[in-house]
Parts: sequence; C-alpha cells; structure tokens
Amino acid sequence: MPRKIVAANWKMNNDEYSSKKLTFDFLKYISESNNTKVLKILSVPFPFLNTVTKMCEGVDSVFVSAQNSSDYSEGAYTGEVSAKMLSSISVPFSLVGHSERREIFGESDDIVFAKTRLLLENNITPIFCCGEPINIRKDNTHLSFVEEQLNLSVFKLKSSEFKKIIIAYEPVWAIGTGETASENDISEMHRHIRSLIKSKYSSSLSNDISILYGGSLKPENAKQIFDIKNVDGGLIGGASLNAKDFIDIVNSIN
Ligand code: 13P
Repeated sequence: MPRKIVAANWKMNNDEYSSKKLTFDFLKYISESNNTKVLKILSVPFPFLNTVTKMCEGVDSVFVSAQNSSDYSEGAYTGEVSAKMLSSISVPFSLVGHSERREIFGESDDIVFAKTRLLLENNITPIFCCGEPINIRKDNTHLSFVEEQLNLSVFKLKSSEFKKIIIAYEPVWAIGTGETASENDISEMHRHIRSLIKSKYSSSLSNDISILYGGSLKPENAKQIFDIKNVDGGLIGGASLNAKDFIDIVNSIN
C-alpha cells in the first residue's frame, strides 16, 4: 500500500517570522487532530529549513523538505545548495523537477535526473514532480508527455532506487490558477503513471509508490480529489500558506 502523504510547498514565500508562525499554528492544529497515519511534509525555503526542522522535531509524522537542490555534488557553484549539505542538516525530503524549476529556470530532464541521483545518494527522498503544460493538454498528448518525463529521468533508476521516490503529478495549467484538473483528468493520469511503473518495474513496486496530485488543491476540493483511485495525497502550494486551510486539506484524506 502506498503511504498517504500531504505535502506543503511554500515556494518563495514567508520570512523567518511568518515561517515560524505558520509552523507553530500548523503544529497546534496537528496536536488537536492527532492524524498520524498521513505523512505531513513542509517544503520550506532553504533559510528556514533548520528552524522549521527544530520546531517539528519529535512530532509524529511531520517532516521537512527542501524545494530544490543542486545537480552538482560540490565545488565552485556559487549560490547552489547540494544534497550533501541538506543531508548534513538531516533534511529527509526534497522536491525535484517542479514545473517552476523546469519552466522558469530551464531545468532539463537530464538536470532533474542528476538532482534525483544526488538526493538518493545522500539518503534524501526525492519528491519527483511531473506534469504537462496547457498546449500539450490541448493537443491531447499529455499521457505520452508525462511518460517521456519519467523515461528521461526517474525511470533510469534501478528498482532498488526507484522504490524510494515519491511522485507528484502537477498539471502545469492547474498550478496557482484556481483551475483544478477534473476527476477524469486526474484519474486517467494517475492510472497511467501507475501502469507505467508496473510495466517498467513490477506490480508490487507500482502498488507501493505514492502518487500525489498538485494544482489548486484547497479545502473545498481536497476530499473529492483524495477519493480518486490511485491518488495517494497531494502537493499544495497557495493553500499551504494558511495553517487552517492546510490542516483541513490534511484532514480530508482517508
Ligand atoms: P497551487 O496549490 O498554488 O496550485 O500550487 C501547486 C504546486 O505547485 C505545489 O507544488
């Protein structure tokens, strides 16, 4: 059975004070809801990883994630943050291949793969993001587009490595737009990804990988989306910046 996971992605929002406040409020709600079967992950900006990690220490089923890491292991790469550095401060997860990294910062599949590799080598679980832009959806080639994203990166991993990753399907046109993918759209893609994992690796591996949905998830639509077959949780941007909204989304999962 895949693990149920709800992950926040704060993106480039919050300062130190608001990061602490958001984490504090979130942990207060968590202690009231006692929902330990769902893994909760907070993907926070680099400068606040240590602070938020310390605040979450000892809280059952709550973990911190980076939003990015370098495709180089170390050296003269000014401004980069390596997987080894993240590992040295005990960061257990990192997003990789988010569409904003791919589109705005030009990250190719090769770069996404190099990052994934380094994360795994440093015992950090990659949360691998994939998803199609609007023109691909309009052309009705979204299934093969996402298949290609997988083939050119995480499907190059051995099964012993692949089994450690989490997949997040985020249709680019649904990110931050208020436009959620329909139940059919989500169901079709999640089924497709699971069946690709089955053909590439094995049925048991495909049944164990968590596949999250991301894109305009909010308290109002979370339950409906989490109830879709093959959806094992969510990756939440905007709504994760409000502790009450985020916990309401966490509590919508069965
Ligand atoms: P929104 O929830 O703001 O649409 O963002 C989704 C996302 O990009 C999470 O990584």
